[in-house]
Amino acid sequence: MSLAGKVALITGGAQGIGRAMCEALLRKGARVCIADQNELLGRKCLEELKQKHGAETIMFAQCDVRKTEDLEAAFKKTKSTFGRLDILANNAGVGLHPDSNLVVDVNLKAVINGTELGLKHMGKDTGGDGGVIINTASMSAFLILPHSPAYSATKAGVMMFSRSHGVPQHFEKHGVRVNCICPSFTPTAMLDELLKNTEIEKFIRMVGIVDIGLVIDGFMQLVEDTSKNGACMRVTSQKGIDYKIFAEDRAKEAIKNSKL
Ligand SMILES: NC(=O)c1ccc[n+]([C@@H]2O[C@H](COP(=O)([O-])OP(=O)(O)OC[C@H]3O[C@@H](n4cnc5c(N)ncnc54)[C@H](O)[C@@H]3O)[C@@H](O)[C@H]2O)c1
Repeated sequence: MSLAGKVALITGGAQGIGRAMCEALLRKGARVCIADQNELLGRKCLEELKQKHGAETIMFAQCDVRKTEDLEAAFKKTKSTFGRLDILANNAGVGLHPDSNLVVDVNLKAVINGTELGLKHMGKDTGGDGGVIINTASMSAFLILPHSPAYSATKAGVMMFSRSHGVPQHFEKHGVRVNCICPSFTPTAMLDELLKNTEIEKFIRMVGIVDIGLVIDGFMQLVEDTSKNGACMRVTSQKGIDYKIFAEDRAKEAIKNSKL
């Protein structure tokens, strides 16, 4: 899929993995809306990326993904500025937080809401041209995280929600692919916070830290490879980029390859 002229909306795009997603898309000729609740960081990121990629290629929408009205406004602002929408990354997230409800609201509920709004704004059945949605899960979707059970639960939820959307029956209706990416620990502000706790630091060092460039290579693969729908990509320091094979995938393969 060529990205020249395509339009993307990236939540949590003001820093970390989200910002790196914005930059990678801009480098390939896409136009990007940074949607983030942090106005100061968002405007700083906007100015820096404008300098590099041109003022007409990038915009900012202040948006708390927990609020449907904010998300809806970000979608509308993106379409009215750039005329279309092709790529959505539901990437905003919080890490260790004492309030588990907030973790669920940002990391899971907002991804569900964002995906449903994305389908409405990009779906061929609702006047769009189709597109692709990438939801940021985490390797925590597969790992027991003793320090943050709620985080682990939200990422497992994002993973299964994305896979359940990424099936042919849905794609035939709206023409939007839905994939998820599961990075291992990645050097961002979120990781810096985690590393302040020595017990968690030991755990992180054991699991391993992955290069952010590799996470972005994986993200771009999910955006550009039109054969990927319902894919669950892992990005780890041990195996690099690979796709999780589930029991039902093996069963599908076995059925496809079996002779009557
Ligand atoms: N860094 C890691 O080790 C790691 C590993 C796997 C997955 N992830 C996931 O990657 C995503 C990005 O994380 P990161 O490491 O870049 O974190 P980060 O803290 O560097 O950036 C998160 C961004 O999300 C924004 N954000 C937070 N709450 C928001 C809200 N309610 N509305 C809008 N924006 C909001 C923040 O302002 C910030 O710009 C998250 O979903 C995170 O769970 C991170």
